[in-house]
Amino acid sequence: MPNIIKKRNPWKNIIFFSLTTIPFFSVYYVGTVYESVSIVEMVLKGFTNTGYLLIGFSLILGPLGKFWNYFDQFLTYRKQLGIIGFMYALIHGVVGTIIYVFPNPDIIVNNYWAVALGILALYLFYICYAISEIIVIKTLGAKKWRRLIRYISYSAFILATMHIYLAKLPVWQEYIDSDIIFPPLSLILFSFGLFVLAFRFYVFIYDTFALGYATIKTLVSESRQSKD
Ligand code: HEM
Repeated sequence: MPNIIKKRNPWKNIIFFSLTTIPFFSVYYVGTVYESVSIVEMVLKGFTNTGYLLIGFSLILGPLGKFWNYFDQFLTYRKQLGIIGFMYALIHGVVGTIIYVFPNPDIIVNNYWAVALGILALYLFYICYAISEIIVIKTLGAKKWRRLIRYISYSAFILATMHIYLAKLPVWQEYIDSDIIFPPLSLILFSFGLFVLAFRFYVFIYDTFALGYATIKTLVSESRQSKD
């Protein structure tokens, strides 16, 4: 069999993976809200939370691979995770606007910041998508491009995490005051998002200090050699 057929297609793999999380999240959502939910809303929750999960995975794989070699095998999926995650977030933004905002425009007034941050996050994710083309990488140079996409994607992820916090805080407060055991889906995903950001921050601090320590060590050994 030619090699090309045997090779696994990363796009298909991520889509198959998301076909397990979308129904799982949809069913979990319905099982934890204790109110009637339309089929569109149910499926949309699956797409929304899967989108955020995939984007989070695409960001966390690099930092995880720094400490555990096991994660290196998944590094090639980062682009697919990011782009498919963005597509699902786009579906959430468009369908969410149609089913939540259009019938109840007061959401924009009452949840101004939540909606504004969601739109801004989506726009930044779009920029990441637009600059993920090989031609852009060649034009900018790999190092510059990597740094640029890292800044934009993390900024977008922070905004999306704040968007979830502002949109869902009342739901989490209701849950904390109730006897319900299983937490709202949005709270689980929000905790995952905080983990992604905290771990990235840890890697940033680690890199800064490790680099500083290595530089000092080199300078000390160089000055010793020059004395000798
Ligand atoms: C045009 C941009 C966006 C708009 C208008 C928007 C709108 C909304 C609204 C109205 C809600 C509350 C209703 C609900 O629970 O679904 C919500 C929740 C949420 N949004 Fe967005 N959003 C946008 C972008 C994003 C982006 C970029 C992400 C992240 C990738 C995101 C992730 C979420 C999540 C995870 C929830 C909680 C869903 C749940 O209850 O399980 N949103 N959004």
